[in-house]
Amino acid sequence: MNQIDLGGKIVVITGGAGGIGQAIAQRALASGASVCSWDNAPTAAQATAGIASMQVDITSEAAVTAAYADTIAKFGRIDVLVNSAGITGPTLTVQDYPLDAWLKVMAINLTGTFLCSRAVVGGMVQNGYGRIVNMASVAGKEGNPLQSAYSASKAAVIALTKSMGKELAKVDVRVNCIAPAMIESALLDQMPASKRAENLAKIPMGRAGTVDEIAAMALWLASEECSFTTGATFDASGGRATY
Ligand SMILES: NC(=O)c1ccc[n+]([C@@H]2O[C@H](COP(=O)([O-])OP(=O)(O)OC[C@H]3O[C@@H](n4cnc5c(N)ncnc54)[C@H](O)[C@@H]3O)[C@@H](O)[C@H]2O)c1
Repeated sequence: MNQIDLGGKIVVITGGAGGIGQAIAQRALASGASVCSWDNAPTAAQATAGIASMQVDITSEAAVTAAYADTIAKFGRIDVLVNSAGITGPTLTVQDYPLDAWLKVMAINLTGTFLCSRAVVGGMVQNGYGRIVNMASVAGKEGNPLQSAYSASKAAVIALTKSMGKELAKVDVRVNCIAPAMIESALLDQMPASKRAENLAKIPMGRAGTVDEIAAMALWLASEECSFTTGATFDASGGRATY
């Protein structure tokens, strides 16, 4: 395993109790960072693993503001934000998609990413350093059938990443995102087996990715060495997306 130096860095990970978020949290910790997870369903296991855990609903502006204040009080600053919290929403046609389900997917995947990014970015600019890593999806590039809200939210995360990358290009704050295809995690339980099989069949490598494979990519994007790259989207899709 390559060693990526995050020594002394303060890393906040939303959805840090989930499969991908937890893998990133553990690898960041092993790379020398202090790690704080913002998740609305934190696990006790995280605290014992040396990761600070805060219960935060990232769709609530007030909750994000409070979590930011608590994190600054505990750690002094935030160097890295990984926006990993997300849900798939129901597997339905647009015609059958309930508005409340659509709004919930948008609130968590898009507005939550916006609220957490907005909360940390002022401090990063003031400190002259920051890295933001967003978790988009290959669905945001291709538009998966029966996953319209998820696909649209992830396309918007890709666009938000581009906007922020340009806005912050003149300071040492880099904003990039990852577009994974199917990754083994609890998120897959939100889809029917037929949808999982369909998504798996699109991957040329013929397998799902692992959370550690996403953590490997996320850690470089979170590091100082990611210096001339911003506003970009990186595929982790077993060969599925090639554009
Ligand atoms: N697993 C995959 O196949 C896959 C593929 C592409 C993209 N992604 C994206 O990667 C990210 C992480 O996915 P994962 O596989 O770790 O999923 P997961 O379900 O294992 O974890 C998601 C985490 O987000 C948290 N969360 C949900 N709503 C929240 C809220 N309102 N406030 C705070 N936390 C909240 C959950 O509690 C959970 O811990 C998601 O954004 C997902 O869309 C996953």
